[in-house]
Amino acid sequence: MIVSGTQLAKEIKEKVKNDVAKAVEIYGRPPHLVVILVGEDPASQSYVKGKGKDAEEVGFKSTTILKPDTITEQELLDLIESLNNDDSVDGILVQLPLPAHIDEDKVIETISLSKDVDGFHPLNVAALWQKRDCIYPCTPKGVIQLLDKAGVKIEGKKAVVIGRSNIVGLPVSKMLLDRNATVTIAHSRTQNLPSVTSEADILVVAIGRPKFVTEEMVKPGAAVIDVGVNRDPATGKLCGDVDFDTVAQKASVITPVPGGAGPMTRACLMQNTLECFLRRQNDKR
Ligand code: GUN
Repeated sequence: MIVSGTQLAKEIKEKVKNDVAKAVEIYGRPPHLVVILVGEDPASQSYVKGKGKDAEEVGFKSTTILKPDTITEQELLDLIESLNNDDSVDGILVQLPLPAHIDEDKVIETISLSKDVDGFHPLNVAALWQKRDCIYPCTPKGVIQLLDKAGVKIEGKKAVVIGRSNIVGLPVSKMLLDRNATVTIAHSRTQNLPSVTSEADILVVAIGRPKFVTEEMVKPGAAVIDVGVNRDPATGKLCGDVDFDTVAQKASVITPVPGGAGPMTRACLMQNTLECFLRRQNDKR
């Protein structure tokens, strides 16, 4: 079974769009998402364009701010502060990675917690790990929704996550744990990785290496979620971290690249922006 992230993302955005229409009636305006891109990295440009397109599709007010990579750290922090103080802005997203002269941690910390649609603020991360009310980061939230959509039972299952980044590996592991999976976090230095992954009922791969997971690493009937976005060195085409053609023969559920976790990340950003908007509106009352 190939689970289409594109299809599920469409359904999620349809629901957000309906909720936005209701929000406009109640609050008099739609949510406003501001996306900041520093520099001209082509992959980031394409991600930011997609986010703006989805935001418009669901009826948000969408602003994209492009800054040259000569912007100083202080100028970027000042820009974020001005958006924090602007009551008409509900969500602020700074596309990562940033140029080396800008401290990413400082940038993430500066975004107001109430407008942190990425869920990257350290207080939000702490809330996630303490099982308190939080904004779930977009890609992990998309992974869980893909598993649910595919009818994969998470509770009691063995999940293996390959990758331990702040953006995907760590939060998705915590979210699987909170759904009562038994979770192993593996990474590039895990010894005998195939012996670990072939135990997995649920395998989430976010290591950033083209076609890294091959058929012999996968348990028959496993659910495989591929979060990778790479260029296939042989063909130059977009490909995931999983060798789709061979692994699809063995897995019971698999996500394609493109068309899997990518569109889901964007759909979850729309959910998070609406959530930040509604929380801010309700806090005002
Ligand atoms: N770069 C790669 N993924 C993400 C993401 O989810 N949010 C931001 N802001 N930057 C990213």
